[in-house]
Amino acid sequence: MNFVPGGLFITLEGPDGAGKTTQMERLEDFLSRRGFAVECTREPGGTPLAEAIRRLLLEPCYGPVDARTEMLLYAAARAQHVAERIRPALDAGKIVLCDRFTDSSIAYQGYGRGLGIEMVRQVNRLATSGLLPDLTLLIDVPVELGLARLRGKGAADRIEGEALAFHRRVRQGYLELWHLEPRRICLIDGTGSPDAVWWQIKDVIVPWLEARGGD
Ligand code: TMP
Repeated sequence: MNFVPGGLFITLEGPDGAGKTTQMERLEDFLSRRGFAVECTREPGGTPLAEAIRRLLLEPCYGPVDARTEMLLYAAARAQHVAERIRPALDAGKIVLCDRFTDSSIAYQGYGRGLGIEMVRQVNRLATSGLLPDLTLLIDVPVELGLARLRGKGAADRIEGEALAFHRRVRQGYLELWHLEPRRICLIDGTGSPDAVWWQIKDVIVPWLEARGGD
């Protein structure tokens, strides 16, 4: 088994319906076959407490949720997740693959809800003790395509059920984040088939790992 000193933290991001989950499974398989110790997880969630917060956040039954309450609940789930699962896995030299992380809060609560990126960044610095991903794969799809992919997959959760204008702000927010941090955030075109998206990810991951001494 291949361990990396200090671990590597890779996140997958994108608007709803971008296909992150499918690509994360492929990436996990690819890295495991290469002998890396991989820890796969998701946000909100990843620990029993954070999964309980996830249910609070996504069930539509609580009525309108105040934007700051929402941001703080995502951050609370993240704080537990980092402390209980992500940090220990990185300290053990694993590659941690995480389906969403702080960039989701910046895109959804900062841009989508209009809280602004500074406040969301500050709260999340506290929640994560400053932990940042080493690499972020941002899978981008037009909002209409993402939401169309989700139809047919059961009832929309509270966030998926938001207005089109909200989802447009989220996507725009992600693209702005990419412009702000092009070295960490890698833009992947998510409009093609799962194979087409995976080939782009592989083209990014292989040289990225090589540059870090993996092969
Ligand atoms: P998922 O559907 O990718 O599992 O994510 C759950 C929903 O939560 C998704 O609509 C995005 C949203 N979300 C936020 O609004 N802020 C966050 O910080 C995270 C992690 C997710």
